[in-house]
Amino acid sequence: MKKHYIIYCTASFAAAITVSVGSIDAQPAYLDASRPVEERVEDALSRMTLEEKVAMIHAQSKFSSPGVPRLGIPENRMSDGPHGVRAEVAWNSWESAGWTNDAGTAFPCLEALAATWNRDLAFRYGKALGEEALYRGKNVLLGPGVNIVRTPLCGRNHEYMGEDPYLAGQMAVPYIRGVQQNKVSACVKHFALNNQEERRLSYNAEVDERTLHEIYLPAFKAAVQDAGVWAVMGAYNKYLGEHCCHNKYLLCDILKGDWGFDGVVVSDWGGTHDTMQAIRNGLDMEFGTNTDGLSIETDTPYNEYYLADPYLELIENGTAGTEELDDKVRRVLRLIFRTTMAEDRGFGSFASPEHSALARTVAEEGIVLLKNRNGSLPLNPDKAGKVLVVGGNAILKTSWGGGSAELKPEHEITPLEGIREYVRKNCPGTVTVTYEQGYRWDRPDLGDSLRFAAVAKAKDCDVVLYFGGLQKWDGKDGESIDRQEYGLPYGQDKLISDLADANPNLNVILVAASAVAMPWADKAQSITYAWYSGSEAGNAIAEVIFGDVNPSGKLPFTIYRDLADCGAHATGAYSRDSDTAEYREGMYVGYRWTDLKGTAPLYPFGYGLSYTAFEYSGVKLSRQEISLSDLDDGEEITVSLTVRNTGERDGKETVQIYVRDVKSSLERPYKELKGFEKVSVPAGGQAEVNISLGKDAFACYDDVDDCWKVEPGRFEILAGHSSDGITGKARLEIRQ
Ligand code: BGC
Repeated sequence: MKKHYIIYCTASFAAAITVSVGSIDAQPAYLDASRPVEERVEDALSRMTLEEKVAMIHAQSKFSSPGVPRLGIPENRMSDGPHGVRAEVAWNSWESAGWTNDAGTAFPCLEALAATWNRDLAFRYGKALGEEALYRGKNVLLGPGVNIVRTPLCGRNHEYMGEDPYLAGQMAVPYIRGVQQNKVSACVKHFALNNQEERRLSYNAEVDERTLHEIYLPAFKAAVQDAGVWAVMGAYNKYLGEHCCHNKYLLCDILKGDWGFDGVVVSDWGGTHDTMQAIRNGLDMEFGTNTDGLSIETDTPYNEYYLADPYLELIENGTAGTEELDDKVRRVLRLIFRTTMAEDRGFGSFASPEHSALARTVAEEGIVLLKNRNGSLPLNPDKAGKVLVVGGNAILKTSWGGGSAELKPEHEITPLEGIREYVRKNCPGTVTVTYEQGYRWDRPDLGDSLRFAAVAKAKDCDVVLYFGGLQKWDGKDGESIDRQEYGLPYGQDKLISDLADANPNLNVILVAASAVAMPWADKAQSITYAWYSGSEAGNAIAEVIFGDVNPSGKLPFTIYRDLADCGAHATGAYSRDSDTAEYREGMYVGYRWTDLKGTAPLYPFGYGLSYTAFEYSGVKLSRQEISLSDLDDGEEITVSLTVRNTGERDGKETVQIYVRDVKSSLERPYKELKGFEKVSVPAGGQAEVNISLGKDAFACYDDVDDCWKVEPGRFEILAGHSSDGITGKARLEIRQ
């Protein structure tokens, strides 16, 4: 007799679908969420027609792909990522869908998250993001981005987590776990070597094998192996002459082969170029064909996508078999059973006060204090007097813009609003706030007059707070085009310098997500890096400026004095005009390059001040010697040290552990980050910090034997508060 089952595809759609499953008595296995995913996958696959299978592996709209309506298997619904859930775009264009219920929480950009060096916050950030995605009916969130910051000019650095592969991996793993805890898939991107936006659709990355494994792959590997990410997005660019979205070496050999990835590979939007390569080289889902994912529209119908009718034709005429197709469909089904059709999937929450509070906490912990002459900050709310706020970034809502990472925040507090509100609540009688724009990007003709007005006011105030930096649009921190210059745009250097001449009590707050030149650094009393900090940006900044929050962020990248101090530029490798991106600097990215050259950066990787001071003492190892076989067996070395807060405020400090291979047959960077821990230390108190180092901390990639190796010999374990602030070291001998 014929049975009917009610399937609740996703509670958030509150949709009930009745399907007929033929004359059987038992419930089909694929509908039973309590059964193992693999069993459900095989069962569903066995019920699907060839056409249904092919339909499932390409888009049906800008951000969705079909399910199997006949079987009650729901669609996949994706959304950018990575700092919030993007507003709805129209079904078939990049236009806004015009919804009024899609304004969510804007979290600080990923570079700001990385600057917290706080794994727990990364988990909570991911969890909240997953909740927002769940509420919005999405089962895939297109983030995090873990491409390494190779050059400060890359337009998408704000979507990435810094220059160091270990830091990026350590922050990505909890983020992904947090998202996926909601039964929403994270989608780590852009695999791999998408380290510049210029010519991103066409450049071929020429990088040596060792650098690929040591610098550009580890964060992806951690996402797959440590976080168990369910989706990976291919990059637009090429590697070994093949587009990364269907790149045999990256996708079949490394990702699915060596790393055992069992999830889906999603193309970047418009990143698919060939049916046969897409079939054979590891792509599972095709999106955005004939668009660049951002601006180019296309009228290519979805059934003409590479993995649509052209694939069916190749199967029907015998050129392609169905083995690869079944593998792709298995992966897509796995994604659906892990997410939309998973057991006990919740409902999520959206734009909630809790998410806002979390966005504020992340913003507070990510802000980096770079310079603070004579304790210029924090301002004393009882004595600050006449405060002049200057700069376009003081009134800019930065969650908007940036390309696909653009957000429509339910609210966003600008720095000026945050400061005014702080003063209104806490010190209305003692502090006055006035504002001068100083510069306008849209009116270069007003440049001089705005500057003169700001400088005149600066002469007549007690303190100047200058808010400048970059903006999230083309040619600045924006997608598809790299920055045009290392310096600040719109004549800001001159403005800052003139302000400092007018009033030495000048505090510069940079709103940006990449390193910038600071020719005026000596003139500023204080310099603070405040990122694109999301919905609560202004409140977090005000709390740091007035001292309610003691800054504890540390730079996730090096700020070079000059662009030529960065390896990709020093070697002349970075090019806007060539379809070949030579990674001539090899593994010497960021601090690895400045270490090699002995160049002092303006502010080093890992650097950040506090309103209190910390002292490190007693760097000790749990043992001075260890054998290779012990390391192979999973034994670890524990580095311990004491951090004392010698100042008068409670604070947080991130202790960083770098490993140095003193003598090695293979060339190695001077030192590499291999551990860190952020600790809270009360004023006058101390904290014991223990950081474990396993085999990976000592290994390097041997490109002759194609494997990771630890070479016996002497190592130094360096503890410090930044890559240039090593305060203690210990020796370790690794025996054969
Ligand atoms: C970007 C991706 C993004 C996609 C969808 C592409 O242009 O590179 O990161 O997820 O568009 O918006």
